[in-house]
Amino acid sequence: MPLIRETIVTTVDRAGRIHIAPIGLIAEDDDWIIAPFRPSTTLDNLLAVPFATASHTDDVRVFAGCLTGRHDWPTVASDEVPVPRLAGALSHAELAVTEVRDDPQRPKLRCRLLRLITHAPFQGFNRAQAAVLEAAILVSRLQLLPRETIERDLGYLHTTIDKTAGPRELEAWNWLADKVRAHFQS
Ligand SMILES: Cc1cc2nc3c(=O)[nH]c(=O)nc-3n(C[C@H](O)[C@H](O)[C@H](O)COP(=O)(O)O)c2cc1C
Repeated sequence: MPLIRETIVTTVDRAGRIHIAPIGLIAEDDDWIIAPFRPSTTLDNLLAVPFATASHTDDVRVFAGCLTGRHDWPTVASDEVPVPRLAGALSHAELAVTEVRDDPQRPKLRCRLLRLITHAPFQGFNRAQAAVLEAAILVSRLQLLPRETIERDLGYLHTTIDKTAGPRELEAWNWLADKVRAHFQS
């Protein structure tokens, strides 16, 4: 299995409108693959403007926020690509699409790393951050997974949140939990 890094990918459309989405970048030699499931704004944007930034952040509210309709995270201009990056990123990568491998379900866009820039120190792992990421993945699969699987996995992750979350992780968790509740009530 390849290495996958969970990042916040920013793209733009031809009019310069910014789109932010959590995406797992897949390692391939020295390059990174962005593999969006169709339909995808990230895919449409990359085909129109073949550049992206991947922001690395420990603020898991951005991951949870994008999965719960909160897309409006502050961005700033990048150095070499016409796509902004997350303002709060600890570091970010600037990427250029070099190859498109089309697929009816999940095309793969191979990207060359142009720059990798550090902005702030990484201050260590927090288990609740990992729990929020896993919960955000579950929320992205609400339509696909059985209710029992989602409730069982969220129950396990909740224990980690109770033990180790700070205010950011708690806020992110509550957004995701509200979305799951609303999904099963409807
Ligand atoms: C940690 C994480 C990783 C994700 N990785 C991917 C991915 O590799 N491909 C994808 O299509 N969606 C991925 N998703 C789900 C997308 O963020 C979400 O479905 C998003 O709306 C993508 O569609 P868009 O390009 O139209 O925004 C991921 C979600 C999370 C929380």
